[in-house]
Amino acid sequence: MESDGKQVTFHLMLAVGAAVIGSLQFGYNTGVINAPQKIIESFYNETWFQRYSGFIPETTLTSLWSISVAIFSVGGIIGSFSVGLFVNRLGRKNSMLMANILAFIAAVLMGFSKMASSWEMLITGRFVVGLYSGLSTGFVPMYVGEIAPTALRGALGTLHQLGIVIGILMAQVFGMESIMGNAALWPLLLGFTVVPAVVQCAVLPFCPESPRYLLINLNEESKAKSVLKKLRGVTDVSSDMQEMKEESRQMMREKKVTIPELFRSPLYRQPIFIAIMLQLSQQLSGINAVFYYSTRIFEKAGVAQPVYATIGAGVVNTAFTVVSLFVVERAGRRSLHLIGLMGMACSAVLMTIAMALLDKLAWMSYVSIVAIFSFVAFFEIGPGPIPWFIVAELFSQGPRPSAFAVAGFSNWTANFIVGMCFQYVEQLCGPYVFVIFTVLLLVFFVFTYFKVPETKGRTFDEISAGFRQTAGGAAEKYLPEEINSLGADSQL
Ligand code: GLC
Repeated sequence: MESDGKQVTFHLMLAVGAAVIGSLQFGYNTGVINAPQKIIESFYNETWFQRYSGFIPETTLTSLWSISVAIFSVGGIIGSFSVGLFVNRLGRKNSMLMANILAFIAAVLMGFSKMASSWEMLITGRFVVGLYSGLSTGFVPMYVGEIAPTALRGALGTLHQLGIVIGILMAQVFGMESIMGNAALWPLLLGFTVVPAVVQCAVLPFCPESPRYLLINLNEESKAKSVLKKLRGVTDVSSDMQEMKEESRQMMREKKVTIPELFRSPLYRQPIFIAIMLQLSQQLSGINAVFYYSTRIFEKAGVAQPVYATIGAGVVNTAFTVVSLFVVERAGRRSLHLIGLMGMACSAVLMTIAMALLDKLAWMSYVSIVAIFSFVAFFEIGPGPIPWFIVAELFSQGPRPSAFAVAGFSNWTANFIVGMCFQYVEQLCGPYVFVIFTVLLLVFFVFTYFKVPETKGRTFDEISAGFRQTAGGAAEKYLPEEINSLGADSQL
């Protein structure tokens, strides 16, 4: 059942646009603490001095800073794991709307932390906006995946990542000393979080609920149909409706799938394993070592203007996400992911060579810039956008919320580990820190090569049918009639 609609309608773009403001918020808060590290550290120092009449010990400062960076991902872990609690009760759209309460609270906490001389407020604010971001990384790809026509699912799914990278870039630009990255304005830089929250709250009410949610979860057929007509811009939506009904019938048989069932049932074990590994490949590639700490990395690599190099990385990051957006429906997910991982591994080797030879050859600092830029570029070709939206593709409506929770949890946990440990590991390994990422990247390359199927152009139902077929042998004793009734080509 191929959905032939490739039409990008106003309603579709409005809905996707409103949703990805949540991605932008996540990206903004990922990138925002990079440039003003020194300034905020001196705020910690002054506050410490006021309270304890002495300078803050170096190790305490490193710990406080690492916590300020990484607590965001702790929020993300909890937020992403809670996705399933909201999406089926409130619906996709209202879940996204409601999450903004967290963004408002976080903006207030971070924006007023300086006034209150409280780094605790800043750290709490980072945690709360992490909760929001964790929820967003489930809500947004789920909503976008569910409203997108099959032929555009990859391209529209990549818009989640585009929102993230634009958010990161905005944070980097605003974080320049001449804009808000200075001693007077940094609270405004962090409090800026309120702006995307207001915009999202203003636009989302005009967007439709996911038609899949309306039909499959609420059984509201006529509402689902009228939403689909608007989204697709055509009056005949019968093929989409039929595909959703097939998914719905499937779900009746599956019932609601809990997280433990994802791992127990032979039907889901393979796709959940793939989803987890893809999330890990995204985070353990080391990308956030760059986005949290690039200013420091560039400084160490002898770059004269590290903040500009960081912004350069943000520009490359955005440009290559756009490239991926245009090629993902043609090249497919699997090949782009493979190219991305291999390219990142080569860039990481180049980075290591540049760092190691820096003492002997001063021009190696330029090589390190090239290496980081290409590391980022290859990331956005595949490992950046694909893991996010492929989760919606690998699962049907029944297991989808639980799958998003597990995938998000894996992603954010790995994000936390990198954010928290990078500075320490770097102190230990010096210029060889990127060797660790190289090894991991190669492992994920091999995994993707052998295990990840192509999902391009296939309906949700066809994709899960593929997994049912490969799980056939194992699953037969549980669900024989299901497997026999599905003859779709597995392409696995
Ligand atoms: C992905 C990652 C995020 C990272 C970003 C960089 O969205 O999930 O952690 O910061 O890409 O572009």
